[in-house]
Amino acid sequence: MNAKGDFSLNELAFIHGTDKGSKQIERANLSPKNYAVHYEQRFGHLKNDEFTLVEIGVNSGASIRMWHEYFHRAQIVGIDIRIDSEKLGDIVDSDRIHLVSGDQGDIRFLSSFKEYLRDGFPPVAVIVDDGCHKRASQARSFEYLFHRVLDHGGYYAIEDLQADVQKGEDLLMGEIVEAIQWRIPNGVIDPPVEWIRFYPRMVMIRKAHLIEQWSNLQETD
Ligand SMILES: C[S@@+](CC[C@H](N)C(=O)[O-])C[C@H]1O[C@@H](n2cnc3c(N)ncnc32)[C@H](O)[C@@H]1O
Repeated sequence: MNAKGDFSLNELAFIHGTDKGSKQIERANLSPKNYAVHYEQRFGHLKNDEFTLVEIGVNSGASIRMWHEYFHRAQIVGIDIRIDSEKLGDIVDSDRIHLVSGDQGDIRFLSSFKEYLRDGFPPVAVIVDDGCHKRASQARSFEYLFHRVLDHGGYYAIEDLQADVQKGEDLLMGEIVEAIQWRIPNGVIDPPVEWIRFYPRMVMIRKAHLIEQWSNLQETD
């Protein structure tokens, strides 16, 4: 707990029972992944801001509860292929939590999701992919959401990169680097990326701040 009496993101991961923190969640037999420490370091400065955080992969809502408590002025949007209201309990009633049913690998869904966010949501400053952990779907959602939904200066994290490797598939990074090249009708423009950071089992990409070259292309579909 810090001096102001509120919890760090890492502490909230443990309290709410997601494996994103540095401590073992014994009741769920989940090994800790330590992502929350990196998230707080990179985008903890948004703590008191009004913005939208999107997470792909809701399950029982543990991480959604963590985000909701830490980013106490943000709109928290969870996407899942199967929203299970029974598992989610009281969070479905929160006015800052929004749960959307859809497949992260389906472009039609991603396009309708972009429209959904137009309805009064503040800019999307953070997207976390903790969904299916399948390379093709991770790459498809990244390509769509990074360019068309994430705000300039925003952060996009893809978790559990080891999942595909364990299944004997290649790493996702080739697709991510490919997807960062923003295709336009007459070719490719410079990638709007400020940095890419690799962590154990996770990659985080910061979208660059808006420059004139991209401003006219922001709405391109
Ligand atoms: C690891 S769990 C999410 C855990 C949660 N983020 C937490 O930390 O508490 C992964 C979730 O992704 C969902 N999922 C699987 N395939 C998906 C897909 N293609 N599109 C969207 N969600 C998917 C599953 O239904 C499951 O609830």
